[in-house]
Amino acid sequence: RRTPLLAPSFLAADLANLQAETERLATSAADWLHFDVMDGRFVPNISFGLPVLQAVARYAKQPIDVHLMIEEPHHYLAAFRDAGASSITVHYEACLHLHRVVQQIKQLGCRAGVALNPATPVSLLEDIAADLDVVLVMSVNPGFGGQAFIPNTLKKVAMLKELLLDTGSDALIEVDGGVNMDNAGPLVEAGADVLVAGNFVFSAPEGPVATLARLRDHLT
Ligand code: DX5
Ligand code: ZN
Repeated sequence: RRTPLLAPSFLAADLANLQAETERLATSAADWLHFDVMDGRFVPNISFGLPVLQAVARYAKQPIDVHLMIEEPHHYLAAFRDAGASSITVHYEACLHLHRVVQQIKQLGCRAGVALNPATPVSLLEDIAADLDVVLVMSVNPGFGGQAFIPNTLKKVAMLKELLLDTGSDALIEVDGGVNMDNAGPLVEAGADVLVAGNFVFSAPEGPVATLARLRDHLT
């Protein structure tokens, strides 16, 4: 199995010290920086948005992986690219014209991702899979950090892996929600390429840099 990319989530960082958080992640095992945008409509929570992304991007050394948990994301794609996004992931459930949205993200020069809520089956991606750079499998219901990992995700990742092979897609499989030392190995075994981790990384007593290093060692 390949070593997955690690993407710590800013949602669990010290939001009053984003410069310091971004700078310490710069020297860590993080491959991407995961940035969760919530609008209080698609999900029952509001996080942060464009001006905060712009501020973080000034200090970021790794690509910023923007996860849009918002309705009608097509209105904001160019703005997120301009604010510093390297990849933009929209929710399947939030897009009436998903094909168009995916093409727009790619035209902006960003990696295009589609996220699936826990109850959305991977089979719905059959006709778009080959166009995608990333499929993000939510392993909790989106909206909050610190929730428990939904075990069915392992089966879902394996099914998605098969679908990507069948459709000739080279999309990366990203898993987001409740990722920790216990499920990371099985997730990679099932086919995960990118692991997002919020609480596990930031609330560990030894801090995010040491925790990311430990997770990396565990998976190598
Ligand atoms: C949840 C967000 C996640 C969240 C993960 O809606 O999409 O990225 O930050 O946090 P943990 O790892 O704490 O579940
Ligand atoms: Zn996320």
